[in-house]
Amino acid sequence: MNNIPLKYPFNQFAYGADYNPEQWPEEVWLEDVKLMREAGVNAVSLAIFSWAKLEPRPGEYDFGWLDRIMDLLHTNGVSVLLATATASPPPWFAKLHPESLPVSETGVRMEIGSRQHYSPSSLAYKQAAASLAGKLAERYAKHPAVIMWHINNEYACHIRASYDEESATAFRVWLQRRYGSLEKLNDTWGTAFWSQQYADWEEIQPPRQAPTYPNPCQCLDFKRFNSDALLELCRAEIDAVKKHNPALPVTTNFMGISAPGLDQFAWARNLDVTSWDSYPDPAKDEVAYNASSHDLTRSTGGGKPFILLEQVTSQVNWRNVNMLKQPGVMRTYSWQAVARGADAVMAFQWRASRAGAEKFHGALVPHVGTADSRVWREVCDLGRELRACHEITGSRIVARVGMMFDWSNWWAVELPSKPREISHTTIVTQYHEALFDNNIPVDFVPMEGDLLRYQVLVLPLTYMLSETTAKNIKQFVANGGTLIVTWFSGIVDECDRIWLGGYPALLREVLGIRVEEWQPLPEGVHNEIKFIADGKTSICDFWSEAVDAEGAEVKAVFTKDFFAGRPALTCNRYGKGRAWYLATRLPGEVNRELFGMICREAGVQPLLEAPKGVEVSLRERDSSRYLFIINHTDANHEISLGGHHGADLLDGQQMVAGTVNLKPYDVKVLKLAV
Ligand code: GLA
Repeated sequence: MNNIPLKYPFNQFAYGADYNPEQWPEEVWLEDVKLMREAGVNAVSLAIFSWAKLEPRPGEYDFGWLDRIMDLLHTNGVSVLLATATASPPPWFAKLHPESLPVSETGVRMEIGSRQHYSPSSLAYKQAAASLAGKLAERYAKHPAVIMWHINNEYACHIRASYDEESATAFRVWLQRRYGSLEKLNDTWGTAFWSQQYADWEEIQPPRQAPTYPNPCQCLDFKRFNSDALLELCRAEIDAVKKHNPALPVTTNFMGISAPGLDQFAWARNLDVTSWDSYPDPAKDEVAYNASSHDLTRSTGGGKPFILLEQVTSQVNWRNVNMLKQPGVMRTYSWQAVARGADAVMAFQWRASRAGAEKFHGALVPHVGTADSRVWREVCDLGRELRACHEITGSRIVARVGMMFDWSNWWAVELPSKPREISHTTIVTQYHEALFDNNIPVDFVPMEGDLLRYQVLVLPLTYMLSETTAKNIKQFVANGGTLIVTWFSGIVDECDRIWLGGYPALLREVLGIRVEEWQPLPEGVHNEIKFIADGKTSICDFWSEAVDAEGAEVKAVFTKDFFAGRPALTCNRYGKGRAWYLATRLPGEVNRELFGMICREAGVQPLLEAPKGVEVSLRERDSSRYLFIINHTDANHEISLGGHHGADLLDGQQMVAGTVNLKPYDVKVLKLAV
């Protein structure tokens, strides 16, 4: 069924799953490859948790079974993203190196028996993992089935930090490199407070359980250090495999915008392609939330097509209640990934396990088998649809709106002892949703990113801001860009020290405002804002600020609390551009309207007008343009194509013009006429 072999950069959609043949007798493998062909599966991620099978005893290897399955897959036209098999060290490893086991904040050493039981700073683990990766590369880096390395698996999924002695030593080395002198460290961390001043490097500890809040900069640096330590582990594996074939690309699977462990912008610079594992909760409406992770994965990868490396066909096993995806929803989520820039649609896992911790996790081949199986039918249908659209691979999203996103900022916002508890990504994704609901494409932009390619730049809750970034932002507006800054932004420098003299200090001039103080709002407590232009009001919650306009035009005011009548929304002209400031959190539909209005004024139009729940996205390559319209709702919708017309790639290339009728959970992929 797959005549053309899959290559990277992808010449067709990669479609498949994690494949764990070691869980099954070899007779089952023959059925597996037959079924893969039936479903149009052309790629599998292999050997992710195979360390114990590959190296059953220290230094004793068994590659026979892997040779056999690799050859079988190759003969059947299935390409392999070969894992380095290092995600779960075998029991013998912990026995040999008990110091490699991670230790919690409270001093509890974790045990074997699940997975990812290694400290980010364990030298023994690093050497053993790099050695296994090297052995695999020596043997398979030129195997015709292998198209990519899958390094480790979901770094920092379970273990983001370890508080053991080896980590403490490595942390001190990292700090010495960062600060050079204790004097600098003491000054930056603000150790004059609570008599925390260090007189010797050896006195510094990881922020272990303490009587109350540890030093915030110590905590922040420990998070930065752990992301770097894990990256060193990943780098060791990358170096080991690249030695044997530098041309073979590498990826490692990220976990989207809900995963705080790794600074993905920094990590992605070490990968050939980014990928992530997508598990929206079917019990909630997480369509927009999931889209934000696709956008993040694409953006951290520099805009290149990315890999959806895992999703589930039906239901997972790790929530309190594991609802399944309704019929058609695996399809809509798969097309969402493609619509937002993925060139691969993969899942966890190929065949549902018979035993072990994940036996109730959905798979392409369910426990009931393939006969009369809804899941299997949907799997085969999706394979056919993806095949009909292979020409889309390689095309890209062109976004005119950028949203600043930064891991240090995220970590710092969520440290304790703030005006209120804040989940940073909950807030960021609410502003992302305002653009998503308008069907306006958006990229996430790192602090040091190139701003000049955007017409609109959003700073959602950008608490931490350096002088360099602030300077670039001002330049962006002066050149004609439109800036939107939300509440509690520009408060501290990159070391979590307050910028004094009125918030948001470095942005006061460009925004034409001063924030004097803030009033965080507990759950259930609201303020209200009134728009000056039309007198309309809206409730607001979570946070409010006492703002002075210092040149900015006031667009809305608060109506309650002692600062009633003072600005809640302002707009300032600066150079050739405009800078908006929003001093509170508004409901979703008001955000949608506001962000839509600001974007239109800045010359950025929605791709199409569509109701909430209907997602529209566009991918482009040279003169080819592919429009995706995805109905994530169980209702019928009629959407105007706004003058576009094109061939429906999922319906025999029928020409479509005027309007399209969407059935519940319908998907349209139109190749637009030039
Ligand atoms: C993660 C892991 C997989 C599997 C799935 C289950 O994404 O990478 O190994 O455990 O979760 O949802």
